[in-house]
Amino acid sequence: MPPLARPKELDAAAIARGKGLALNGDPKRELPACTTCHGAAAVKALPLFARLDGQSAVSLERRLKELDSAYVASTAGPNPMYPIARKLTAQERADLAASFASLQPVPK
Ligand code: HEC
Repeated sequence: MPPLARPKELDAAAIARGKGLALNGDPKRELPACTTCHGAAAVKALPLFARLDGQSAVSLERRLKELDSAYVASTAGPNPMYPIARKLTAQERADLAASFASLQPVPK
C-alpha cells in the first residue's frame, strides 16, 4: 500500500513572511493585520471570525483564493474578506497559510 499523503511541509521562511503580514498588514496597500479579526482575542469575542490558527495550510490557501471571487463580492452584506483577499498575491496566500498553519489552534 502506498504511504498516506503527508501534509505539505511548512517552510520556515514562508512562515516568517506570512507572520509579518498577519501581524502588521501592509498600510501602504491598505491591507489590515489579519490578527485584528483572526487573533485569539477577536475569535473568542465574536464567533463570526474564523479560527485560522492550526488549520491546514492547503485548506487555508484554498480558502484565501476562494474568498477573492466574484461570488464572494456579490454575496449579500459586505464580506470583509473580499477586499482583503483580492489584494493578496499567490505568494502571500501561501505565506499566510503556512504562518497560520504553524500555530496552535485557539481553544474554544
Ligand atoms: C475586518 C476583519 C477581518 C480581517 C482584517 C481579516 N479577516 Fe479573514 N475573515 C473575516 C471574516 C468575517 C471571515 C468569515 C468570512 C466567510 O466565511 O465568508 C473571514 C474568513 C477568513 C478565512 C476563511 C476561514 C475558514 O475557515 O473558512 C481565511 C482563510 C481568512 N479569513 C484569512 C485572513 C487573512 C490571511 C487575513 C489577513 C491578510 C484576514 N483574514 C484578515 C474577517 C477578517
